[in-house]
Amino acid sequence: MMKVLHVAAEIFPLVKTGGLADVVGALPQALIAQDTDVRLLLPGLPAILDSLADLRGLCDIGPVFGAARVQLLQARMPGSQVPVYVVDAPYLFRRGGNPYQDSSGREWPDNTQRFALLGWVAAHLAAGELDPLWQPDILHAHDWHAAMACAYVANHPPTPARTVYTVHNLAYQGLFPREDFHFIGLLARFTATSALEFHGQLSFMKAGLKFADRVTTVSGSYAREIATAEFGCGLDGLIRSRGAAVRGILNGVDYDIWNPETDPGLAANYGADSLERKRLCKQALQQAFGLEARPDALLFGVVSRLTAQKGLDLVLGGITHLLELGCQLVVQGNGDPALEAAFTYAASIHPGQIAVRTAYDEALAHRVIAGSDALFVPSRFEPCGLTQLYALRYGCLPVVRCVGGLADTVVDASEANLQADRATGFSFRDASTTALSIAVDHAVALYAQPERWQQVQRRAMAQEFSWNVAAQAYLALYRELLPPRPA
Ligand code: ADP
Ligand code: GLC
Repeated sequence: MMKVLHVAAEIFPLVKTGGLADVVGALPQALIAQDTDVRLLLPGLPAILDSLADLRGLCDIGPVFGAARVQLLQARMPGSQVPVYVVDAPYLFRRGGNPYQDSSGREWPDNTQRFALLGWVAAHLAAGELDPLWQPDILHAHDWHAAMACAYVANHPPTPARTVYTVHNLAYQGLFPREDFHFIGLLARFTATSALEFHGQLSFMKAGLKFADRVTTVSGSYAREIATAEFGCGLDGLIRSRGAAVRGILNGVDYDIWNPETDPGLAANYGADSLERKRLCKQALQQAFGLEARPDALLFGVVSRLTAQKGLDLVLGGITHLLELGCQLVVQGNGDPALEAAFTYAASIHPGQIAVRTAYDEALAHRVIAGSDALFVPSRFEPCGLTQLYALRYGCLPVVRCVGGLADTVVDASEANLQADRATGFSFRDASTTALSIAVDHAVALYAQPERWQQVQRRAMAQEFSWNVAAQAYLALYRELLPPRPA
């Protein structure tokens, strides 16, 4: 059976800052369901150590990169029982905040060592040096946090494991002072521009892009986009040079968690055949957020990190128009203080029509998506995007910018698509308030025709973004890298 080690900094439901955690929580299980022997390697963050019940020591690694005591622990994920290795380095990982930042939003100053260590342990595990009983055929690293694993495998031959690196977001690159290289045990040749150097800094992202045997990203469109100057964040030349080694594999959805028929947190459960019950979720949402109880107002939702990526300034610009049309808006998002303040201000001058929660709240995210009629995802770029996929299943029609994974997953309710019963939402091209407002007009016009709106809802709810399909694509990619099986 093929053995695969997934390496990542976050995993739902233990530690989550975004969609990466959802993917790392679901993909290993989908691979296991297809007869693959999958294990995870995670950093020993407090939320991870506290949630893994049967933790036990596997080996003492000793001092590495300024962490006085590094141990490798073993456990299983609660619920799924997927086997997990944990890098326990108390000095580097046992602290508050999130995996990357302290509680006031500042990057941890020793992130070089923290995430180099994660990659270093992954590479040594892959080399068979840490667990005599298990050695992966494939080391699969997620985002810059785990990318150094690919450089350490290259730094540490001979390691039979082949490497796959998935870019969940090219904009977060893990850039550190070049001098930090002295702390992380790499040969000097790794600081060359042809290796990890990027405009005078050390780039962990480059470790994955350069040294992994295959690079994937989370949608076909984003795979094409990152090979262009517009979306390539200065790395498009390197990405183009990897040619066919770069692939797009669309994320899936864990429909055990995102299913309006069984979701335990909703005011009412509903499905495509009981859409009238969705109105109860809307009513509950209006009440919870202090909006006027207007069943017929088109209620737009937002569930998002508030960052420039997500294009929510376009929604801010469109608020006046939205209100003129009699619509309502619920925003659940946190992040950039300026965006938080702008939405909070909009809510304060339009009470009853606009409401904002600037908290990160998993249960509330489900209620916002269930209770809203439509969900804004007007991203400037979007590697895949998961909220629009969740919204589709909840019959909450996504209003998206036609970019990256959003372009690959939402079919605009154009007249032709409506006629062909293909439409699942609304999409627009320009990153402008005007373009967003035209999409809003379109949504309002369709909402005024309940039968047609419901037809689109039902089409949306029938979409299946299955992890099984994604897992098959990853398995095919892994097989390309392994020696052919004897006949
Ligand atoms: P990204 O990873 O770029 O943030 P995705 O759409 O892939 O975007 O994933 C975002 C994930 O984070 C989804 O599971 C979404 O529900 C969740 N999320 C984002 N903001 C919040 C919030 N304020 N509260 C709860 N969940 C949130
Ligand atoms: C990143 C991307 C998002 C994607 C997620 C999971 O956070 O911004 O588009 O859905 O990773 O792959």
